[in-house]
Amino acid sequence: MMLFHQRHRFAVTLLLLSGLLPLGPAEAAPPKQPAFKLRLLKKADLPKLQSFFAQVSARDRYQRYMGHVNKLPGCDSSMASKSKGEVAIVAVDPKTSAIIGMARSYAVDRNQRAEFSLLVRSDQQRRGIGRGLMTSIIDHNRQKGLKSLWGMVLRSNLGMLKMAGQYGFKREAGEDFSTCNVSLDLR
Ligand SMILES: CC(C)(COP(=O)(O)OP(=O)(O)OC[C@H]1O[C@@H](n2cnc3c(N)ncnc32)[C@H](O)[C@@H]1OP(=O)(O)O)[C@@H](O)C(=O)NCCC(=O)NCCS
Repeated sequence: MMLFHQRHRFAVTLLLLSGLLPLGPAEAAPPKQPAFKLRLLKKADLPKLQSFFAQVSARDRYQRYMGHVNKLPGCDSSMASKSKGEVAIVAVDPKTSAIIGMARSYAVDRNQRAEFSLLVRSDQQRRGIGRGLMTSIIDHNRQKGLKSLWGMVLRSNLGMLKMAGQYGFKREAGEDFSTCNVSLDLR
């Protein structure tokens, strides 16, 4: 009899440890916080943007700006101007409120097309932030009635080209041998 109790207690301990027996409500895990939040860029964000840029590797800067850039360029530090059909969306770490990614687009060709750019902090890549920003910038431009979205991408930027392909962007020849254009019909 004693042996049975001992064995039973041992079996229950094993089941609890292996997660096969449910824990009581007080011990349930807290709900998971999303890894990032998306919102529009605000005027007060400039210091956060500079800190974001400082944590982007030279390689990622080169892929974004297609040149060696040491300072946050004016095009990315300015507020988006609604009159120019611009939008700037940032991905924010919900715990620290640090900016960890940014997408921008601005309308060209009399509001027919919008050009987009994406940048995710180097240590935060491959966590779905680029996809979140891309989806958001596509939705925004579709809602505004633009016909297409396009971007210039280095031919060597295989990550961006793969993601563009997953969204259905078509690849076209670029201005020179090192770049290509990707475009998505929004209609
Ligand atoms: C391109 C970039 C925005 C992707 O951001 P990210 O947050 O890493 O992207 P995600 O984690 O959402 O990944 C989305 C998809 O992109 C593709 N991808 C992204 N990085 C990749 C890599 N290094 N290698 C292969 N595929 C990659 C994958 O298909 C991935 O989907 P999967 O993880 O299900 O396979 C980011 O790498 C970046 O900021 N690069 C530097 C700037 C740049 O190149 N901008 C684009 C020109 S404007």
